[in-house]
Amino acid sequence: MGANHAEAPILETLARYQDVDELGFTPPGHKHARGADPRARAVLGDAVFFGDVLANGGLDDRLTRGGVLARAENLMADAVHADHTFFSTCGSSLSVKAAMLAVTRPGHRLLVGRDAHKSVVAGLILSGVEPVWVEPQWDAARHLAHPPSTAAYDKAFTEHPDADGALVTSPTPYGAAADLKGIAEVCHRRGKPLVVDEAWGAHLPFHDDLPAWAMDAGADICVTSIHKMGSGLEQGSVFHLQGDLVDPAELASRADLLGTTSPNVLIYAGIDAWRRQMVEHGHELIGQALELASHTRTAIEAIDGFHVNDAKDFCGPGLAADFDPLPVVMDISDLGTSGYRAADWLRAHHHIDAHLFDHRRISAQLTHADDEGTTARLLTALRELAGHAAELRDAPQVTVPSPAELRMDQVLLPRDAYFAPHAKVPATDAVGRIAAEMITPYPPGIPVVLPGERLTEPVLKYLVTGVEAGMFLPDAADQRLDTVRVVAES
Ligand SMILES: Cc1ncc(COP(=O)(O)O)c(C=O)c1O
Repeated sequence: MGANHAEAPILETLARYQDVDELGFTPPGHKHARGADPRARAVLGDAVFFGDVLANGGLDDRLTRGGVLARAENLMADAVHADHTFFSTCGSSLSVKAAMLAVTRPGHRLLVGRDAHKSVVAGLILSGVEPVWVEPQWDAARHLAHPPSTAAYDKAFTEHPDADGALVTSPTPYGAAADLKGIAEVCHRRGKPLVVDEAWGAHLPFHDDLPAWAMDAGADICVTSIHKMGSGLEQGSVFHLQGDLVDPAELASRADLLGTTSPNVLIYAGIDAWRRQMVEHGHELIGQALELASHTRTAIEAIDGFHVNDAKDFCGPGLAADFDPLPVVMDISDLGTSGYRAADWLRAHHHIDAHLFDHRRISAQLTHADDEGTTARLLTALRELAGHAAELRDAPQVTVPSPAELRMDQVLLPRDAYFAPHAKVPATDAVGRIAAEMITPYPPGIPVVLPGERLTEPVLKYLVTGVEAGMFLPDAADQRLDTVRVVAES
């Protein structure tokens, strides 16, 4: 019998739990809001507390005999054509680490696109896995990295045939997608698994006009944030598995190692609800979002000083293989200001929050939740921004390195450098030293510096001038970057 996607096991069980007035002498200690501070109840609403119940021994019984989570996971697997799906309440930051640890092990090698998110690097640090970096496709004129090519993965495997598998990020936060089918073939020719970090691709399975998603392209494991492009609550993430290169029990065990023993049922419910919403209405909702994105892109392009990056800019030989138009990436170089200043201005004057921003860009992420009302507000704010551009000029300049200058030698394993005795040195004295920390402009969260890389002047200059211009480095020990944490010299 086919899956019944009208069901939403977690939501339905939660409703039943409330109907029968289940009484828990268990965590969470607020006990259906009764113990919560009234001021918290006033802001959060009691629905948050009513939905916040113990997963096992509360929502389901102590032996999970209702199979509540398993049924929801099976329905999700069916919706995205996977053999197995696992829900996580710890974001794709957990899912991607679980995926990595299921395909490789300490002391082994994994091919990783160098445009990976910081959570992938955290996985390398925790595991002691040696990365074989695969070069992204650089658009040197736009100072932007697109996913590595199929040929780059092929070459990396040829040079490192002992690598246990490969990891690619697709789509990027900018909407650029890799040739996943080609990369999966490169891996499978060698009997190696492919992990796709599809954190930005929750919507991809539900409309044909979007890039192929990992399971359909033949990947073995795919990690997706349901909270990024989907309707899930923050931290809601899933990972899917297909084929026989990875043991599902091993993947589940890796997630168990990293995860919480107190999963948030609200987050599970958000994932369950998203799957039902998309199976039933996804094509229509995503179709409307694509239409809206198309109009909005045209309208922004018509604003003086704005250029909206589209498939013509991002795709083609030496660039990305495909493109998702919902992240609307705007190049504002011609306004004569930086993305940092523009983003601050939009928030201060219009209460509009841009998604990504850097020395020359801002982006607005559109989803199925947007409509003419939200985009009208965005367009008004952007037009006014263009009108006020003169006040935002003379922004501090960021010294952006060329793609070749951005790459530094990995001279120690990320784990060895991260846990080595370290010293704090002024950024100006750090050239030639080995980084003992990760330094990541956020958003989008792709580390510029990795533990174990030998620091160079162009990279340090980029970060120091970046911070002066408004770049945010949340993971650096010294966020102002007056000092850098380096491996101590013996
Ligand atoms: C490519 C990529 N992978 C993984 C993550 C981590 O996802 P989460 O925020 O769900 O933990 C992010 C977050 O921005 C990301 O951009």
